[in-house]
Amino acid sequence: MKVVGSLDAMRAARASLPDPLGLVPTMGFLHEGHLSLVRHARAECASVAASIFVNPTQFAPTEDLSSYPRDLDRDLEMLEAEGVDLVWTPSEDEMYPAGFQTWVTVETLTRPLEGAHRPGHFRGVTTVVAKLFNAFQPQRAYFGQKDAQQAVVVRCMAMDLDFPLQVIICPTVREADGLAMSSRNSYFDPQQRQAAVVLFQALSRASEAFDSGEREADKLRQLMTETLAGEELARLEYISVAHPDTLEELSGPIDSGLLSMAVFIGKVRLIDNMLVGEQRES
Ligand code: PAF
Repeated sequence: MKVVGSLDAMRAARASLPDPLGLVPTMGFLHEGHLSLVRHARAECASVAASIFVNPTQFAPTEDLSSYPRDLDRDLEMLEAEGVDLVWTPSEDEMYPAGFQTWVTVETLTRPLEGAHRPGHFRGVTTVVAKLFNAFQPQRAYFGQKDAQQAVVVRCMAMDLDFPLQVIICPTVREADGLAMSSRNSYFDPQQRQAAVVLFQALSRASEAFDSGEREADKLRQLMTETLAGEELARLEYISVAHPDTLEELSGPIDSGLLSMAVFIGKVRLIDNMLVGEQRES
C-alpha cells in the first residue's frame, strides 16, 4: 500500500493503478462502516484508493473540528489489511492553498435537514469531494447511506458536473444493538453510549409501523418523536419523513420515504436514517 501526502505524488501513484479505480473518501478514525465501503470497492474494482482528510470547510466554527478523533497509524494499518492500494493524506495547505476561493455548491438539495442546521456544511463537502474526484479520477466512489443527504447531494454534484464516475451508496453498518457506526461514537461515556441506541429504536419503530401498513407521514414522525422523548439524555434537533430523492418533507400518505433525524446525546450530535417503501437501488 502506498501512502502519499502531496497531490503530485498522489497523481503519480494513481497513474500506475489499473482501472477501474474505486475511491473511498474518509475523514479517518476508521470503523467497520468505512471498511465495508473499502470491501465493496475491493470486490468491484481493479484497484482501491482511500483519502484521509479531516476537512475543515465542512465544520462550522462551533463544531468539533479541533477535537475530531484522529489516529492515522491505526487507520493505515486497517486500510493495509483490507488490501487498499493507495492512500492520500493531504495537509490542509495542500487541499486549500493560500488564495483558495472556488467552491462547489449544490443548491436545493442542501437546504433542508442537515443543511438547515449546519450552514455551509455541504459546500465544504461538495468542494472537497469534487477536488478528490479530480485528483484521483476514480471510476467509482463509495459513500455510506448513514449520511443520507450527503449521498444524495454528492450524486447530484457528480451528475451535474459530468464527473465520469459512478457514486455507490453502501448500507449503514450498525453495532450489535443497532447504533449506527460513527467516529463520533468514541466521545460517549457508558451511559450516553447506552442512550444513543434510541435513534435506532425510533427509526425501527416507525419503519415497522410502515411495514404494518401505517402510511401517514405525520404518524411516522409522531412515533419517532415519542420514542425519543422516552430517553432523557436525548435532545431532538430535527426529525423528518422526506422524499428519498428530492428530500422534500412529506405529508399525507406515502409510498416510500427517508426517515431521518439529528439528536444530541450530551454534546454529541448524531444523525441516522432508514428508507421505507419501494426497494431502492444504490
Ligand atoms: O463522510 C465523510 O466522511 C466526509 O463528509 C467526506 C465525504 C470524506 C468529505 O470530507
